[in-house]
Amino acid sequence: MKKLMILAAGAVATIAVTSVAMADLKEDAITARRGYFQIMSFNAGPLFGMAKGQVEYDADAAKLYAANLQALADLDTTPMWVEGTDNEAMAGKTRALPAIWSTFPAINEKVQAYKDATAALNEAAGNGLDALRPAVANLGKSCGGCHETYRAKSF
Ligand code: HEC
Repeated sequence: MKKLMILAAGAVATIAVTSVAMADLKEDAITARRGYFQIMSFNAGPLFGMAKGQVEYDADAAKLYAANLQALADLDTTPMWVEGTDNEAMAGKTRALPAIWSTFPAINEKVQAYKDATAALNEAAGNGLDALRPAVANLGKSCGGCHETYRAKSF
């Protein structure tokens, strides 16, 4: 009997630990994917600036930022999209809309648009400002296209 109780207590402890780990995983996944988009934004920013004429065009810098965006496109982000981390389940912590999960895999079309835009951008980045501009516009469309459907405007 004593042994059984110890086992039962052990089981409860295991469940508690698992749910704490799960809560951490959700928080960590949100932190990671928001960081991922911050890195994306940090590298896209100067390209948007060059396209608008606010940052001087520099072929090497443009190629570097484009290559970083490509590296982000190549990352398999699946682990960051943990179920139960939408903005209804985790209000105030994320802007990810439930539609990401409820209509999955529809979001992959938006991911693909970003990948296509990034590939074209890498072709164009070193070829002068006139080549860069439409490629950057196309990139911006891919960001906006996904945000429109899958990101809430505010927390
Ligand atoms: C496939 C969909 C998708 C694409 C493509 C995409 N985003 Fe996002 N982005 C999101 C979602 C969803 C969030 C909300 C993440 C969260 O709050 O958990 C987000 C959040 C962000 C954030 C806020 C991060 C934070 O700290 O909360 C920035 C900045 C951002 N995206 C920039 C960009 C830029 C720039 C691009 C294009 C170069 C881009 N995104 C492309 C879906 C996308």
